[in-house]
Amino acid sequence: MSLNSEIQRRRTFAIISHPDAGKTTLTEKLLLFGGAIHVAGAVKSNKIKKTATSDWMEIEKQRGISVATSVMGFEYRDYKINILDTPGHQDFAEDTYRTLTAVDSVIIAVDTAKGVEAQTRKLMSVCRMRNTPVIIFVNKMDREGKDPFDLLDELEAELGINVRPLSWPINMGASFKGVYNIYKENLELYTPNKQTISESVAFSDINSPELEKYVGQADADKLREDMELINGVYSEFDTDKYLAGQLAPVFFGSALNNFGVKELLDCFVEVAPSPRPINTLEREINPYEEAFSGFIFKIHANMDPNHRSCIAFVKICSGKFERNVNYKHIRHNKLMRFSSPTAFMAQKKETVDEAFAGDIIGLPDTGNFKIGDTLTSGESLHFKGIPSFSPEMFKYIENADPMKTKQLDKGVNQLMDEGVAQLFTNQYNGRKIIGTVGQLQFEVIQYRLLHEYGAQCRWEPISLYKACWIESDDALELDNFKKRKAQYMAKDKEGRDVFLADSGYVLQMAQSDFSKIRFHFTSEF
Ligand code: G4P
Repeated sequence: MSLNSEIQRRRTFAIISHPDAGKTTLTEKLLLFGGAIHVAGAVKSNKIKKTATSDWMEIEKQRGISVATSVMGFEYRDYKINILDTPGHQDFAEDTYRTLTAVDSVIIAVDTAKGVEAQTRKLMSVCRMRNTPVIIFVNKMDREGKDPFDLLDELEAELGINVRPLSWPINMGASFKGVYNIYKENLELYTPNKQTISESVAFSDINSPELEKYVGQADADKLREDMELINGVYSEFDTDKYLAGQLAPVFFGSALNNFGVKELLDCFVEVAPSPRPINTLEREINPYEEAFSGFIFKIHANMDPNHRSCIAFVKICSGKFERNVNYKHIRHNKLMRFSSPTAFMAQKKETVDEAFAGDIIGLPDTGNFKIGDTLTSGESLHFKGIPSFSPEMFKYIENADPMKTKQLDKGVNQLMDEGVAQLFTNQYNGRKIIGTVGQLQFEVIQYRLLHEYGAQCRWEPISLYKACWIESDDALELDNFKKRKAQYMAKDKEGRDVFLADSGYVLQMAQSDFSKIRFHFTSEF
């Protein structure tokens, strides 16, 4: 197959949701359709439990297992599908944000009873930053939920995107009868608890009296009424708007009951984007260019002390990657070649000889990579857009073993390169502050510093609300701000100015008092 056709047939995406909306179940059903797994429950056992456990070793154990499921590749029809898994535990949200930089599109699962929840909103805002195309799957239709029209309004308002239903439910909960597949003009009939594919009847004219035979008079009338309303209110599905991240098609179903998932997948492969051009500091990279390029978006440390090495996950942005060929590590300006790159097929990790734009490969790493690093066939490129987000929890990190200062510094630096957390140095007192998105990261850091670097750290509390990056075109104003807020000024690892606001009020006041200063809540601006 030619390079072009290989790349053209790739669909690389992530499923995102608020915990419990059904991401794992949906992933599993997609894998079943792709023949990548054969029994339900196979994905479940690898899942990071969402319980608010503080036992991160337990979580880490599960996370260890989940390396193989970090990316799930499989073939479906003529397409090569790569699903990138995102951690369910919200303390690993930063991992999820970064994973979103490596996908070409996203499927959002929403619980029909709960609608848009906090995590959904947050993840959607990350998608909007790069206009990632989004398909919404409204799950759990076998349960009583919100009125579908109200839900569509809620999705539009809360997610800030226009929606267009491409399937429509016939009732819900105990009386759920199925969906009308608007995209394919099929009637999909639901049988509760059926683990196989639903019965599908071609039905291009819902005004045909045949409809009553399948769903009864009342539901047939209701469906016709609903369809009229849908066609009146929502304009035709426009693929270009979807690809531009402005319009989200919506499907209804029940992942647990294997219902509505095939319709979702069939539409997905047809409309979802193949690998798209990506910006670098130097120029836009077209995926179909022959020369290979890719960037590291995730580094997974192995917690097993006997196998200390990490796996660096590379998103291939252009061309073809080949085993045992020299590629340039741009930040180190050195050539590297990889004898055992891995690809992720189904739930197995296997060595591959080649991989194409859109694919994710894993490279064994002993500390050469950090998040955002670029590998190319030779050209000097720097990919943009792996942002760090304003952390939400902060602690001073102190050295608890003065004999091991060097080890501590090295450990902290490497862990930050891996993206475990963010380091800020207070410019006033020189103290180092670690910022994270979840409590667990502090435990992770302390444990890893001790076991991997032989260093000991101690946490001391600091009361902070947010860290935000600041800049201004007015040097005088910036200087003035830094002087006024001297105690609250820090530098991030790259030496950029960061303002540490100790309350929402202080931040608000700063924003209104210093109108010429821009406050950023992600590192990418
Ligand atoms: P997540 O990855 O988004 O966190 O969600 P997950 O798939 O684990 O699903 C969360 C819960 O919702 C699970 O139940 C799952 O079985 C259930 N679920 C998923 N899809 C549907 C659906 O279409 N209908 C209904 N009724 N339930 C659904 P659980 O009790 O938390 O887990 P388990 O005991 O089933 O493993």
